Amino acid sequence: MDIVRYKTYHAGMALAVLWALVAALGADPYAARRENMVRVDIQERGVGDARVLAAMRATPRHLFVPAELRSRAYDDYPLPIGADQTISQPYIVAYMSELLRTAPDQTALEIGTGSGYQAAVLSLLVKELYTLEIVPELARSAAEMFQRLGLKNVFSRQGDGYRGWPEKAPFDRILLTAAPPEVPPALLEQLKPGGRLVAPVGAGPFAQELVVVDKMKDGQLKRRRDIPVRFVPMVKGRK
Ligand SMILES: C[S@@+](CC[C@H](N)C(=O)[O-])C[C@H]1O[C@@H](n2cnc3c(N)ncnc32)[C@H](O)[C@@H]1O
Repeated sequence: MDIVRYKTYHAGMALAVLWALVAALGADPYAARRENMVRVDIQERGVGDARVLAAMRATPRHLFVPAELRSRAYDDYPLPIGADQTISQPYIVAYMSELLRTAPDQTALEIGTGSGYQAAVLSLLVKELYTLEIVPELARSAAEMFQRLGLKNVFSRQGDGYRGWPEKAPFDRILLTAAPPEVPPALLEQLKPGGRLVAPVGAGPFAQELVVVDKMKDGQLKRRRDIPVRFVPMVKGRK
């Protein structure tokens, strides 16, 4: 190949790659940022579960944040979602999803729907995902988003997470995304034998840690402490 044809060939190749990228980005203007978030903020910091990484890649976080914050949707920190609440940091969403050790045939309960983002991620990892939110307007807007995205295996309602969802119990997995001072007993009761619960637990914002509770086949509970975290407190509903 002479030098002119060689250069033309490579320029053509580069253009083709560029157009493929532009086409891909055109379909989802946030695709590149989301990919970067998954690689740099999540994978390179130790989350390795392929199913969790695929779920994080597939979930459009920008649709779960207020429109004026969309440009920051793939940055690695929590963002306000209204009602004094937040959507969690993407890394912690991935970390807790991995810690939960899900399987596609499981039923899971999330406490603290918030924006609905964590629920949407979990819906790709289990068969049925139930989620409870105490603030009525957040419960409403998350339910609208689940419908808009066609997430047919997500069941959400407004309610107090301290009571859990007894009508749908028991659950294989339970995840709390608001911090109670102690793991609520009703949630431990609603966990299946062989099941796992993951929760931020602690009395104040600076004294929380993730707690992992495994329920053995004989009903015995095994509890261990994981990393320190910082979540909004889980508030008590009215009796
Ligand atoms: C950090 S935000 C959750 C983030 C959410 N998982 C997401 O992906 O956007 C905590 C949520 O828990 C809710 N919450 C607090 N106490 C609750 C309770 N007792 N029952 C249910 N939800 C509660 C808050 O209103 C808030 O929306």
